[in-house]
Amino acid sequence: MTTAGVVVYKQCHLQFDEKIAHHQRNGAEVPPREIIKTPAQIEGIKASAKINTAVLDLVAKNIKAGMSTAEIDKLVHDFTVSQGAIPAPLNYQGFPKSCCTSINDEICHGIPSEDVINVDVSTILNGYFSDASRMFKIGAVHPELDKLVNVAKECLDCGLKAAKPWGFMGDIAEAVQKHAESNGYSVVREFGGHGIGLQFHEDPFVSHVGKAGTGMLLVPGMTFTIEPMINMGAPDLFIDADNDWTALTADGYPSAQWEYTILITEDGAEILTY
Ligand code: MF3
Ligand code: CO
Repeated sequence: MTTAGVVVYKQCHLQFDEKIAHHQRNGAEVPPREIIKTPAQIEGIKASAKINTAVLDLVAKNIKAGMSTAEIDKLVHDFTVSQGAIPAPLNYQGFPKSCCTSINDEICHGIPSEDVINVDVSTILNGYFSDASRMFKIGAVHPELDKLVNVAKECLDCGLKAAKPWGFMGDIAEAVQKHAESNGYSVVREFGGHGIGLQFHEDPFVSHVGKAGTGMLLVPGMTFTIEPMINMGAPDLFIDADNDWTALTADGYPSAQWEYTILITEDGAEILTY
């Protein structure tokens, strides 16, 4: 970079810091410096995210009726490792497998062991983390289940649309919650999205229920997931005592979830992995 370039860069950064300070003076919760990624870190996260999306594309190509979740797990594990990456869930806080597979009334963190299934894939490449999940419909799915899956995807896209620089986390939450509830569904509260990039789960917690204009200020360079869990019935859940991981709906009605890792940019938000 030329000397002039350095001057311009410094001026931009002063403006950026001043903008954050201004919001803080006005009472906003502002992101700590370490969760605002540098251009070099963003490049690293993007490379990880590219592999993560490729893993989900591979699952999409191969998933079929009669396949076991253990087979899905092997597909995810072997491909991730073949790319020089590591499946982030494997051994994460004792998690025993390389991805999460959550069937029907399972909300998330299902363990690989018919209907609708969420496959949640997370990748580490050169120390950079990425995370995404998709729903897959296996065989003939009941129209009501089909609608739940589609609305859950719409909820994610509503959240994405609401994610803008100098907006707030609550903007995302309200957009998701409104779309879910206007369709007669509920939103899981105990689990949410999370900052990601240098670690698997960083600050902030990304709630999918809330009010616009509240919560942490959104700043260019922030990377986090949006991953609303949408229930056909009530929002309440319990954790399977057999494995201490799998979350299920309390009422046994189905749940659906889609997840992106996104980057807040100067003029909107960019999907890094889907
Ligand atoms: N991918 C999940 C998430 O969205 C990770 C769950 S932790 C695990 O945060 F250990 F179960 F993988
Ligand atoms: Co996640």
